[in-house]
Formats: sequence, C-alpha cells, structure tokens
Amino acid sequence: MLIPHSERRTYNLQLSVFTLLFLGSLLIIVLFAFLVLSTHFTATNERMASVNQSLTASEFALEAVGDEVIALQDTMQEFRVLLDQLQRMLISENVIASAALRDGGDGDLASFVSHPTVLSDDVPGVTALRQLSAALDASMSPLTELNDTVAAQRALLVDVPTLWPVRGGRGYVTFQYGPQRHPFTGAFYIHRGIDIGMHRGAEVVATANGTVRRVAYERYNLGNVIEIEHKYGFVTRYGHLGRVLVEAGQTVQRGQLIGLMGSTGRSTGPHVHYEVSIGGQLRNPEEFLTISGMAGGLSR
Ligand SMILES: *[C@@H]1O[C@H](CO)[C@@H](O)[C@H](O)[C@H]1NC(C)=O
Ligand SMILES: *[C@@H]1O[C@H](CO)[C@@H](O)[C@H](O)[C@H]1NC(C)=O
Ligand SMILES: *[C@@H]1O[C@H](CO)[C@@H](O)[C@H](O)[C@H]1NC(C)=O
Repeated sequence: MLIPHSERRTYNLQLSVFTLLFLGSLLIIVLFAFLVLSTHFTATNERMASVNQSLTASEFALEAVGDEVIALQDTMQEFRVLLDQLQRMLISENVIASAALRDGGDGDLASFVSHPTVLSDDVPGVTALRQLSAALDASMSPLTELNDTVAAQRALLVDVPTLWPVRGGRGYVTFQYGPQRHPFTGAFYIHRGIDIGMHRGAEVVATANGTVRRVAYERYNLGNVIEIEHKYGFVTRYGHLGRVLVEAGQTVQRGQLIGLMGSTGRSTGPHVHYEVSIGGQLRNPEEFLTISGMAGGLSR
C-alpha cells in the first residue's frame, strides 16, 4: 500500500510472493549484467587503447622502412650506373649485347631507375622492394659476366710478360727504352729495352710462361743472354747476366728463376737489360709492366 503525503488517494497494490521474487531476481540479473558489461567495456577500451598505441608505433616503423627503401633505391641507382660504366669499360662493344641486356632486363631497370616510387597506398615500399629485388636479380648476370671477363683478362696477363724481371720487385729502371745517348760512344741510338739496376747476383725471373729459345754469350753486346718465347708472339730477352740457370728448349713458368744479375758483355755495372718484342717488333717493356698494375698487383 502506497500512501502519499498529500491528500490524494492511496494506492493499493497486491503483489504475490512470486511476483516479488520475480522482480527481485530481475533486479539482481540486471545489476549483474550491468557489472559484467561495464567490466567488459573497460577491458575492451583498454585493449583498444593499447592496440591503437601499437598501431601508431607500427605506422612509425613502416614510415621508417619506407625511408630506408627510398635510400636503398638511391643506392641501387648509383650501383646500376657504376655497373653499366664498368661493363662498358671492361667488355668490348660487341660483347656488351650480353644476354642480360638483350633480354630486356634493362628495359624494366631503366623505367625503374627513372621513376623510383614508394606508393603511399601500398604497404610502404612493398612494390619498391619488389622492384629492387628484381633489379638486383637483373644485376647478377652482368656481374657474373664482369667476373668472367676479369678472370679471362687475368689469365691472359699470365701469358703476357707483365712481371717485373727482378725477383721481389727489386731494382729500378736506370736506362729507359727508346732514343738514348750511348754510355760508351756518346752517340744517339735506340735503346732496345730497359736496364734495371740492382746488385750482382740479384735473381732474374721469367716474366711470363714460356720456352727458352736461346741461351748465348755475346761478348760485345748483351753478354750472357737468355731469350724466352711466350704465347701470342711475345719474346723476352734478359742480358748481361752473371749466371744463366736455364737451357735452350726448357719450359719456364712466370716468376721462375732463370739467371743471376751480372755485368757481362758491354756493361758499366750490374744490371739486367730487359727486352720485349711481339712478332719481331720491339716494344717498350714498361708498357706491359704497367698493365699488370690494373690486374691487381701481378707485376712485382
Ligand atoms: C588512437 O590514437 C590516435 C592518435 O594517437 C587518437 O587520435 C585516437 O583518438 C585514438 N583512438 C582511440 C580509439 O583511442
Ligand atoms: C668468378 O670468377 C672466378 C674465376 O673464374 C670463379 O672461380 C668464380 O666462381 C666466379 N664467381 C662467380 C660468382 O661466378
Ligand atoms: C704457366 O705454367 C704453369 C706450369 O707449367 C701452369 O701451371 C700454368 O697454368 C701456366 N699458366 C698459364 C696461364 O698457362
């Protein structure tokens, strides 16, 4: 029974025990549900905040990756330019139409290099990374070719007299190749080789693989002299030797000891007179001695 404070009429409600129980349980259920839901809501909120946080962190990280990809593209671009230049330098024009360049690999590369892109709507740089990967793949074939070319050129140099004729790179050029004033007569003449000065007994070596063609004693000229025949029509001569340690017909290897320095024949002091000719034409030995510098220090 509900009795208001005013003069209004009273309300008379009749509730059964069951109804009361029902309402009571309903209240409890509602309260419980509210409690569960609010707890759940708070937890979800916290999780969302943390997810949001890690998402923000990921976005920063991806941005950094994107920057790195752009830097990588720049490096790749420089790498390709350098590779192309190297290729032009080391491979002759007709060989340059190599498989890699013919197969249009370069076409893709060219467009890639001229339009480096990090698309904003793709996961940062995935497209760019794919392009980079493709560009690297495409670089493999020219690089392999360069490697083979360098190897072939090195092998060629072993048969060309590029080694310094005195063991261990010792001695120095005392008399150049070409027109010189003769040390005895004072007249101009053509010096047929170079003179390398060092002490008596310094070790003279073959400057390339070859076969000893002639061993002789020229009293009025080169004294004890060795002539070696090499591949590609090269012949080298070593004069004024104190001792000769090889015989005609013997095969010699690049760097093999063939004689000892002396001052035999027409000579003013211990030195080796070293000559190089190709197909009978005399050449300046220093032309070949300097090539080897390019092949990675084969010379001395
Ligand atoms: C997620 O974080 C951003 C920036 O930190 C903020 O603007 C946004 O309101 C956050 N969203 C939620 C659901 O927390
Ligand atoms: C490069 O050339 C050398 C000498 O021919 C060879 O041994 C090596 O395997 C080559 N490297 C590659 C990756 O082809
Ligand atoms: C030079 O000769 C040695 C020994 O005969 C040999 O092992 C080497 O392969 C030769 N080099 C070349 C380039 O022919």
